[in-house]
Amino acid sequence: MSAGHPPIERIEELRKEIRYHNYRYHVLDSPVVSDAEYDGLMRELRELEAAHPELVTPDSPTQRVGAEPLDKFEKVRHPKPMLSLSDAFDEEELRAWLERISKLLPEGVGPKDLQYVMEPKFDGLTVVLTYEDGRYVQGATRGNGIEGENVTANLKTIRGVPLRIPVSPDGPPPARLVVRGEAYMPLDQFEEFNRRQAELGQKTFANPRNAAAGSVRQLDSRITASRPLSIFTYAVVDSEGIAVATQWDSLQYLRRMGFPVNSDSRLLPDFEEVVAYCHEWMEKRDTLNYEVDGVVVKINSLEIQEHLGAVGNAPRGAVAYKFPGREATTRLLDIGVNVGRTGSLNPFAILEPVEVGGVIVRQAALHNEEDIHRKDIRIGDTVTVRRAGEVIPYVVGPIVDLRTGDETVFHMPDRCPACGEPAVKPEGEVAHYCVNAACPAQLVRRVEYFAFRGTMDIEGFGSRAAEQFVKEGLLKDVADFYYLRREDILPLEGFAEKSSDNLLAAIEASKHRPLWRLITALGIRFVGSTVAQLLTEHYSSVGELMAATQEELEAIEGLGPHTAGSIVEWFGRERHRGLIEKLRRAGVRMEEREEVGEEIPPTLAGLTFVITGTLPSMSRDEATALIERHGGKVTGSVSSKTDYLLVGEAPGGTKYNKARELGVSMIGEAELLGMIERAREHGSTESMESRKLRDSAPSVIPCSKL
Ligand code: IVH
Repeated sequence: MSAGHPPIERIEELRKEIRYHNYRYHVLDSPVVSDAEYDGLMRELRELEAAHPELVTPDSPTQRVGAEPLDKFEKVRHPKPMLSLSDAFDEEELRAWLERISKLLPEGVGPKDLQYVMEPKFDGLTVVLTYEDGRYVQGATRGNGIEGENVTANLKTIRGVPLRIPVSPDGPPPARLVVRGEAYMPLDQFEEFNRRQAELGQKTFANPRNAAAGSVRQLDSRITASRPLSIFTYAVVDSEGIAVATQWDSLQYLRRMGFPVNSDSRLLPDFEEVVAYCHEWMEKRDTLNYEVDGVVVKINSLEIQEHLGAVGNAPRGAVAYKFPGREATTRLLDIGVNVGRTGSLNPFAILEPVEVGGVIVRQAALHNEEDIHRKDIRIGDTVTVRRAGEVIPYVVGPIVDLRTGDETVFHMPDRCPACGEPAVKPEGEVAHYCVNAACPAQLVRRVEYFAFRGTMDIEGFGSRAAEQFVKEGLLKDVADFYYLRREDILPLEGFAEKSSDNLLAAIEASKHRPLWRLITALGIRFVGSTVAQLLTEHYSSVGELMAATQEELEAIEGLGPHTAGSIVEWFGRERHRGLIEKLRRAGVRMEEREEVGEEIPPTLAGLTFVITGTLPSMSRDEATALIERHGGKVTGSVSSKTDYLLVGEAPGGTKYNKARELGVSMIGEAELLGMIERAREHGSTESMESRKLRDSAPSVIPCSKL
């Protein structure tokens, strides 16, 4: 800005621009500037406002940071009662709802004339936002439906809440607008948030709903400002100066004003489609980045809704089709311990069978002894069990009020439950380990991992075979695969001539896998497929890697001291050197064919990727680096220029849906690795974790944390 130029103009310009970028980001999910550019605009505005405090207005984008703490929340009365919804728990109840209202329709309107709006039922905290002359003046919780709490400052910190409407395109604001919506915490952010809270020794939340509710209801709005909250709006509660005749129009109107409106809502003309959509949604539930506990079906015409009235505090013109709950309570009968590939002893809950999210759960994850004690989970407790998405069910915590006094505190056994050797807990680690190199349980996991598709890919050799071969004494280490004979396999249960020959052929084929697969398959701690590929860029054979020093390894960009130390330690063991020698003698390929230092082929040149969700074996940064190293490009949002959406667990709903809409191909991490590899070699890969997640029935606990 030039000297002498009135700052007010630049300030206004910046605010307008920032509001527009907020709208692109939070409402359209289609930003047009980078985060850095956005931050630059905010910085400039903050500096100008600091120099001219008299020009600060409450609706400036800088004012989302939270205000002075309150002693208590004021009560506010809603302009109209905030009604609730009646529930339908299955298709029959949904049809019964239609039948009921069909008898009450206005003269001349039949069920065939009805149109329906379907919306996700967001599982967060209901909020009510009030705007006067286009300015955000009040935010409240629903409370008892008549009165709520004044959380104006708190809701202002949520970036999706417009402080001025309309955001874009400019036009006259409504004289008054009261909007209903749901504040929520996106699933990926929830996990990250909880992890950070635990690290800081602060309160963690059992589910995203509690986290959202707890964050909105903070007396200190600066705390709310630090929480990753979002919002969806879905109803015009009250207004002056606008006319909408249908629910569908309301959604379009809200979106035009600049409110985040979920893009999966549908206008459907036929009840059979409504039923189908409810089923479709149940399936889709696990792919979203926010929690839903059902689908809301609303009669589109607001006039008909009005005519139908309410029963109790639920309008007749809408119904919630509820999904099975994600959580259930049951008794913790016992705590079992199984042994992982690295010897880690992993406690798991043995439960009185209970239905969670539509499946029967008998076992659930418990992380480690420390975590069990921190949550004060005792054997015999009634506990809350949660199952979200494809993730293995886990124990959230005990219901202390239901204790009888007969509960017992869990202690990690001091011996390995599989081999009986003493267990140890290394300094600074939370897990206990069995350090017996000959422990059969560890061996089963190691063998399974070695043969898995993402490592040496011995086709047809799964967990059952791993147990069987170890039990029969045929595999005492992973190199024994290459010394198996037909007559060893034939007598085993489930094997005949053909299957034995197939297995031997698969084992033979695995000798020629690329070097990074072998390095991954060795199961060195912290060395997954990404690190292994990085290593093969610097070392062209197992021999070279074996000779690498800690310093040399640490000098590789992307390798930390932990990983470097783990590699050096692994190869330093006599037993492991012997294993490598045994593999070499069997003819397993030990070197990369390409020359070291050779340029990486730009396999992915010209391809644009977008990443969503949590990938099984690499972080998003790692995936981005991998794609870029192979010549591809990674961008932040899906557009017609996107070639592939790389989908991990709990993918973001917007990216996923946009990709579906545009017909963008979706691939998983395994396919990405496969694409890269196919250009170098032939074959495909898949990470162990992703297969685990796909294959594991929800009641099955992985016997190892791979
Ligand atoms: S409409 C008059 N639509 O679910 C009925 N409610 O059990 C107004 N909810 O706390 C509610 N998503 O706030 C409606 N798409 C949606 C919703 C939704 C979540 C909440 C609602 C209330 C609860 C009702």
